[in-house]
Amino acid sequence: MEIKIHNGKSIMAEPGKSVYQSLRDSGVYLVASCGGKGVCGKCRVKVLEGTYKTESAAKLKKKDIGDKIVLACTTFPEEDILIEIPEDSKLVIGDKIAVTKSQGLLEFLRAEEPSLTPMVRKILLTLMPPSIEDNLSDLERIKRALAENEINGMRFSHGFVQNMAGSLRQHTWSVYLTYTENREAISVVSPERARHYGLAVDIGTTTVVVYLVDCTDGTLLDSGVTYNSQMRHGDDVITRIIHATEGGALTELRDAVVNDLNGLLSPMIERNRINRDDVDCAVISGNTTMTQLFWGIDPSSIREEPYIPTVNDYPVWKAGTAKVLINQQAPVYTMACVGSYVGGDITAGVLASKMHRNPEVALFMDIGTNGEIVVGNNEWLITAATSAGPCFEGSGIRHGMRATDGAIESVKIDPETFAVELGIIGNAPPVGICGSGMIDAISELFFAGLIDQKGKFVRDLNTDRIRIEDEGPEFILHRSEEKDILLTEADIENILRAKAAIYAGMSVLLKEVGLSLNIVERIYIAGGFGNYLNIEKAIMIGMLPDMPKEKFSFIGNTSIAGAYLCLLSEKMRREAEDIARKMTYVELSVSKGFMDEYMSALFLPHTDIDLFPSLKEKYG
Ligand code: FES
Repeated sequence: MEIKIHNGKSIMAEPGKSVYQSLRDSGVYLVASCGGKGVCGKCRVKVLEGTYKTESAAKLKKKDIGDKIVLACTTFPEEDILIEIPEDSKLVIGDKIAVTKSQGLLEFLRAEEPSLTPMVRKILLTLMPPSIEDNLSDLERIKRALAENEINGMRFSHGFVQNMAGSLRQHTWSVYLTYTENREAISVVSPERARHYGLAVDIGTTTVVVYLVDCTDGTLLDSGVTYNSQMRHGDDVITRIIHATEGGALTELRDAVVNDLNGLLSPMIERNRINRDDVDCAVISGNTTMTQLFWGIDPSSIREEPYIPTVNDYPVWKAGTAKVLINQQAPVYTMACVGSYVGGDITAGVLASKMHRNPEVALFMDIGTNGEIVVGNNEWLITAATSAGPCFEGSGIRHGMRATDGAIESVKIDPETFAVELGIIGNAPPVGICGSGMIDAISELFFAGLIDQKGKFVRDLNTDRIRIEDEGPEFILHRSEEKDILLTEADIENILRAKAAIYAGMSVLLKEVGLSLNIVERIYIAGGFGNYLNIEKAIMIGMLPDMPKEKFSFIGNTSIAGAYLCLLSEKMRREAEDIARKMTYVELSVSKGFMDEYMSALFLPHTDIDLFPSLKEKYG
């Protein structure tokens, strides 16, 4: 059997495989937030010709079904079929994403340490060529030269010794020897190759970011971002864990992210005319699941009670083991994780925010797919993950999407006429709504009186913007002949759950240490979402605490910033390890107070309006 794609190729359809699986196996990827479980309703395709059997039509409207729109993951061809893939079902992961480079990190490092201390060092050795009189072996000759430079106890791997002799002779006994901070020799190279390079890598659930850094002077030479192609198998860490374990695809997921990294790296190496072997160290930063998948470690225990990761404090392994295409002996340092749902990306974030150095109590939050929170100062740190879910990245929201071109990022609603004004990223026609747009929309709907405190649509209002469909009421944000863009009551419920989880997470963490939100002097918001977030609106829906705007700081991608600092500085590596050790991890899913806090925070803005004094004053 064949599946023919309208205006595209034909692929083989094996019996028993869904349309989604057949497309994926042939390199055609669909948005599949739930990983092909028939739940999210994102993998829609239209069948133009042929018969098929479909097992579930979750989230499809009667009209969709009439138009022969199906969920690819629950649809099985019974003969050759012709399908059309709508634009918003196509998963585009090869696209370029703009990189925001972290600012001021090198200046910060230089102020801390006058000379950089990357994981790999280089020393110029000028050896006496061997002769009948001076008949030391090549390796003993290197050891003698190192001892003259007061470097003793160097270890030499088999691979190093195998390649060493040729290189010494080729460069007439004057070479750079590169070695790790733990005194393991990596290579001998020409005396012209004085510079060496390193990679700082942030493996996010959604994106992979790579910095190529000159380790000689700390210059950030190049950077790149791509979508994490593990997204083909689901949007959040849980679907990836299930796919890795029950689906037997651990190697597939590992290869996907390593290929993303290598794919970003190759053009950078070419552009900067660098010898691949001179990239001789790397730092990896990611959440606990992403880190275990990167190293090919079975992540199953992360989602099973008592939620214990296989490793938090990673040994330094080699690039060859990770299959990263740099010097195969290069040490790869992994940012230490704290628990199953607070990973090395958060350790890196705290390091980059410097909150662990100051006496003032600060709150760090990363509102990505998991909503991690850290509270503390230079004496204590406490952390939790809020299981906010990836809804702010579009998952579980009918027309939800990431903050890319075509995403509605801001919404204004006239409280008299209910007219809607939209701000769209990239000035493109609207395709869907991203996290900041969702927060805007909910706050505007609430303050225009269109939804109540529970997020339910107020009936009998004089507007045709609200309509009742099979799955319940929905608000039309944008009308078009092709596709209206909507926010449904179920979407609002999902967003309220996420915002409640974040607020309750903050409250519970502070209560654990006997404090309240008033004690917090500064709030650091990390992650890409922060760049677009409207603080006032986030306070209005009760997601962020009611504090003056000046107390909030957007600090961008701190996972990559922390990785960069650790790439260049031994002090930062030790400091990061100390942060991870020092952080007390609270498992909210078993915390007694969390459910109560969460239930109270499900309302708009909160059941206890006294927690939001500025809103109380403004709106009564
Ligand atoms: S419904 Fe098909 S991937 Fe989620």
